[in-house]
Amino acid sequence: MKITNICCIGAGYVGGPTMAIIAQKCPHIKVTVVDLNAERIVAWNDENVENIPIYEPGLSGLVAEARGRNLFFSTEVDKAIDEAQMIFISVNTPTKTYGLGKGMAADLKYIELCARQIAGIAKNDKIVVEKSTLPVRTAEAIKSILENTGNGVHFQILSNPEFLAEGTAVQDLLQPDRVLIGGESSPEGQEAIQALVDVYANWVPQERILTTNVWSSELSKLTANAFLAQRVSSINAMSELCEKTGADVNEVARAIGMDSRIGPKFLKSSVGFGGSCFQKDILNLVYIAKSYGLHEVADYWEQVIIMNDHQKRRFASNIVQTLYNTVSGKKIAFLGWAFKKDTNDTRESAAIYVSDYLLNEQANIAVFDPQVKEKQVLSDLDYLQTRSPELNRKGIQVMEDPYEVCRGAHAVAILTEWDEFREYDWQKIYDNMQKPAFVFDGRNILDTAKLGAIGFIVQSVGSTN
Ligand code: UDX
Ligand code: UDX
Ligand code: ADP
Repeated sequence: MKITNICCIGAGYVGGPTMAIIAQKCPHIKVTVVDLNAERIVAWNDENVENIPIYEPGLSGLVAEARGRNLFFSTEVDKAIDEAQMIFISVNTPTKTYGLGKGMAADLKYIELCARQIAGIAKNDKIVVEKSTLPVRTAEAIKSILENTGNGVHFQILSNPEFLAEGTAVQDLLQPDRVLIGGESSPEGQEAIQALVDVYANWVPQERILTTNVWSSELSKLTANAFLAQRVSSINAMSELCEKTGADVNEVARAIGMDSRIGPKFLKSSVGFGGSCFQKDILNLVYIAKSYGLHEVADYWEQVIIMNDHQKRRFASNIVQTLYNTVSGKKIAFLGWAFKKDTNDTRESAAIYVSDYLLNEQANIAVFDPQVKEKQVLSDLDYLQTRSPELNRKGIQVMEDPYEVCRGAHAVAILTEWDEFREYDWQKIYDNMQKPAFVFDGRNILDTAKLGAIGFIVQSVGSTN
């Protein structure tokens, strides 16, 4: 089957960029991205392409090129489903906040709603592609909902997990390490796989397109994220040991990274990993392992999360200890709120947890992030429900100017590794701060020697400087 019409349900961090690339690389395919969130769709359609709801380097240019040609953003979910031959499901699958599996299992209600909607609308055979990260065997659940509609329509379910990282989404999509497509071994299943392979083959070399069975594909995504997160927790575990022993975690990372069996990437010690995927996917893995009675497997992976929580808490408590055991009434400046640089996404960002800890210690926090707005910062804190929204608004303020954020502060904390932080006039920042002036570099991006020469007391993660 030659695909000429694709619909993607979910116009988020995954659906938006992925569909923009498909539309750009496949001018013969009409791509419609739909979402229930009307505000988000309005933003995707904003005349000024810089106002699209997701910040990713290079994305606005792509959208400008394809939008209105063969890329459309719409709230008309039913219409788009009806017209499409292939439907990507790219809706959010947060960790459950209620009931069985609370705090651990993925909440699949959005996925199920999508499946029911597709089942209700479809009048001809369709290929349904799981793009969201899902627990293993979700495809089976989707299939069962789709097949029991009784209207004679046939569906093929494919698993096509997305491996893009935020901040480099466009590059990752243009030149993926691999594209993974899982499907059934039946002739119909193979035909569906081929249809999706043909879409990607418009720009991805064939040898990078892997096909597997559905379960391997689903589990590979969870495994990849678990391994990546594990590397960060492993180097963060070493960072604490380095601080005690006088070793330097950057030197250790460099030394081990040159071992070709280990490799140099993903060994940056930090205030802790964030993002919508790592924690959620590991919790999901832990939940699945437990549900099969595999307690040692579950405990092994859970340790990655325990270590990450420890790292965030440790960073915050070190600030308190260093500032003479109290931050009550003191101003702490946060540079960065996003979970990593080059994105406006704040989901599970370490900054949220560090600020929550410091607010409990009655600090006054001032935040600057080049891409994150006040509304987002406040909603991230309110979501924790640690204290009332009024108290959050008393304790934290968000400003548009980094120098104002640092003015009068007792300490500056780097929470995100934005490049521009390195380029700031640190002498000017120092001159306007309380003395002694402390810097807690949660991303190890600053030149500690230079800052030390200015007069700052600098603390990095994983070294004693
Ligand atoms: C190890 C380190 O590799 C080496 O750098 C260090 O100097 C000494 O310790 P060694 O113990 O000789 O070397 O062998 P290695 O190849 O690392 O294997 C260790 C064990 O892990 C073996 O039992 C091997 O069978 C097992 N292994 C290794 C696996 O089960 N799976 C793998 O993918 C790799
Ligand atoms: C991740 C996976 O990389 C991607 O393949 C998957 O599709 C989605 O989840 P993402 O969460 O967007 O992508 O970003 P990633 O670059 O993996 O960073 C995750 C977190 O780990 C960030 O908070 C980052 O700052 C942190 N990190 C990463 C470190 O602290 N040290 C590192 O060395 C690498
Ligand atoms: P991700 O990082 O996985 O892309 P996001 O939360 O950024 O996650 O995006 C998921 C999008 O899916 C949200 O914009 C949400 O409104 C949308 N969504 C969830 N359920 C449905 C549904 N049944 N129909 C259409 N859109 C949906």
